[in-house]
Amino acid sequence: MLAGKDPIAISMCWFIYMLCKHPEVQEKVAKEIIEATNMTEEITDVADFAARVSDTALDKMQYLHAALTETIRLYPALPVDPKVCFSDDVLPDGCNVNKGDVVAYLPYAMGRMKFIWGDDALEFKPERWLDQYGCFHQESPFKFTAFQAGPRTCLGRDFAYRQLKIFSSVLLGWFVFKLSNENKVPQYRTSINLHVDGPLQVYVFHRSGFQNPSTYNCETRSVWVNPNQKKI
Ligand code: HEM
Repeated sequence: MLAGKDPIAISMCWFIYMLCKHPEVQEKVAKEIIEATNMTEEITDVADFAARVSDTALDKMQYLHAALTETIRLYPALPVDPKVCFSDDVLPDGCNVNKGDVVAYLPYAMGRMKFIWGDDALEFKPERWLDQYGCFHQESPFKFTAFQAGPRTCLGRDFAYRQLKIFSSVLLGWFVFKLSNENKVPQYRTSINLHVDGPLQVYVFHRSGFQNPSTYNCETRSVWVNPNQKKI
C-alpha cells in the first residue's frame, strides 16, 4: 500500500504545485494533452474525454512525462532511503562501513545538486528531459535516484508514470489550476515520504474559455470566469 499509493498522491500534489508556479508549463502540458487525445469542442463530458486517454495518446505525451519527472527530481516521494550494512564493507570512494551501520542516499539532495544537474539544478525545467526531437530522454538511475538504482529499483515505476499521466491528462485537459495563495510556500511534513504539510489549496476552473493564464490572478478572476465557465 505504502509503495503504491502514497508516492503517487505525493507526486501528483507537488506536480500541481509546480504547474501553478509555472503557468506556462501548465499550458504547454495541457496543449499536448488536448492534441494527443484529439479533444474537440464536441466533447462535453469528462468521461468521454477520459475514454480517449489511450496508450497511444499517453505515448505521445512526452512533455507531460518530462514535467512529471522534473517534479519527481525536485520533490522525490522518498526523499531519504536508508540501508543497513549486513557486513563490514568499503564503499567505492574508500569509506569504511561496519556491519550494522546505517547508510542513506538522499534523492532529495541529489536531485538538487549543481554538480549533478548543472547550475540550473534548482529550476523547474521539463525541457532538460527532452532530446532534440522533443522525446523524453531517460537519465541513468544512478543520477536520477528517485526510484533507486540497481537490482532493488522500484518495481512500480512504469505503473506510477502510467497512473500519473492518466490522472494528469484528465485533470489538465479539463481544468486550470491556480494557487489560492500565491505567497504561501508549502512546508514539508517530516516522514518517510515527502508530504506537503497540510492541504495544498488551489482554485480549479474549467479550461474552456481560458486564454491567458499568466495574466490571471485571484483578485481579477471575474475577468477570467466567463458565464460559460463553471467555478468549482
Ligand atoms: C512516483 C512514484 C514512486 C516513487 C518515487 C517510488 C520510489 C521507490 C523507491 C526509492 C524504492 C526503493 C526503496 C528501497 O528499497 O529502499 C521503491 C521500491 C519499490 N516500489 Fe516504488 N515508487 C513509486 C511508485 C511505486 C508504485 C506505484 C508501486 C506499485 C504499484 C511501487 C512499487 C515498489 C516496490 C514493490 C518496491 C520494492 C522493490 C524491491 O525492493 O525489490 N512503487 N520505490
